[in-house]
Amino acid sequence: MDAIGVDIGGTKIAAGVVADDGTVRAERRYDTDPGDPAAIEESVIRAVSELREEHEVAAVGVAAAGFISPRRDAVLFGSNIAWRDHPLRDRLAAGTDLPIVIENDANAAGWAEFRFGSGRDAEHMVMATVGTGLGGAIVVGGCLLRGAFGAAGEIGHMQMVPGGHYCGCGHEGCWEMYASGRALTRAARAAVVAYPDRAGALVDLAGGPKIKGPHVTQAAQAGDPLAVELFEDLGFWLGAGIADLAAIVDPEIAVIGGGVAEAGDLLLEPARESFRSHLSARGYRGELTVQLAELGNEAGMVGAADLART
Ligand code: BGC
Ligand code: NA
Ligand code: ZN
Repeated sequence: MDAIGVDIGGTKIAAGVVADDGTVRAERRYDTDPGDPAAIEESVIRAVSELREEHEVAAVGVAAAGFISPRRDAVLFGSNIAWRDHPLRDRLAAGTDLPIVIENDANAAGWAEFRFGSGRDAEHMVMATVGTGLGGAIVVGGCLLRGAFGAAGEIGHMQMVPGGHYCGCGHEGCWEMYASGRALTRAARAAVVAYPDRAGALVDLAGGPKIKGPHVTQAAQAGDPLAVELFEDLGFWLGAGIADLAAIVDPEIAVIGGGVAEAGDLLLEPARESFRSHLSARGYRGELTVQLAELGNEAGMVGAADLART
């Protein structure tokens, strides 16, 4: 039966009615303020009640950017949203009689790709969701890995660079600090200061030095050499980490999704090259393929709905 999927990201909320086969029948989108959990909840409640007026649904799955409790009812920690031991399910349950399940946003997106997208023919899959943060999903033998405490697949917080950039999780050098929308923005803003003579296109697009991720994508797509380089750097880190994931999971496919992946080949090609150059025992082992996600910005809601149903 149809279910509602809601995706709460670092900058936006998307909610939709999702059919058993993954089709989205209707959807709503809102901007969010990551510092205001109460406003986020209001938007989710509003979206769910609006969608229910027109559709009969069995459950609500909520994909949230953070560490999720093993009972799938709370967000224990958000590194990009101000959640600490946050009883999200209870907060959303007021005013609805439907079962609500909380999922990690990247687990939900990965599950959607596994069921209906790039990973549909695979049995073992990893996915890196490159959005505001860097999320992960690991599917082994057809099962989504949750771990003993609900936090399996938090790949963004693997240490990539000892003593590197400080991360919202309390540590330094996390993979997310090198391969995420935040990392892209930080690198772009630094580049504007370091190489003003090369940053003209980016500054023009952004109307000033406050470059955002989509400006870098747009500039790179138009062939701006600095923006292309920023994606090459991001792809380098992404590919290096995917080689680490291959060492642990050895999947058939690694999927790259999230808003930053809208850059397509500009990100995919450097990620593939870096993956190949970091893979151990290369040439003497089976080798996964690195692919882009297929479901775009609907993956989180589709996966959350599907996981709420099962
Ligand atoms: C969070 C993850 C989340 C990812 C993508 C990370 O910083 O720790 O829980 O999946 O960002 O939103
Ligand atoms: Na995850
Ligand atoms: Zn971290």
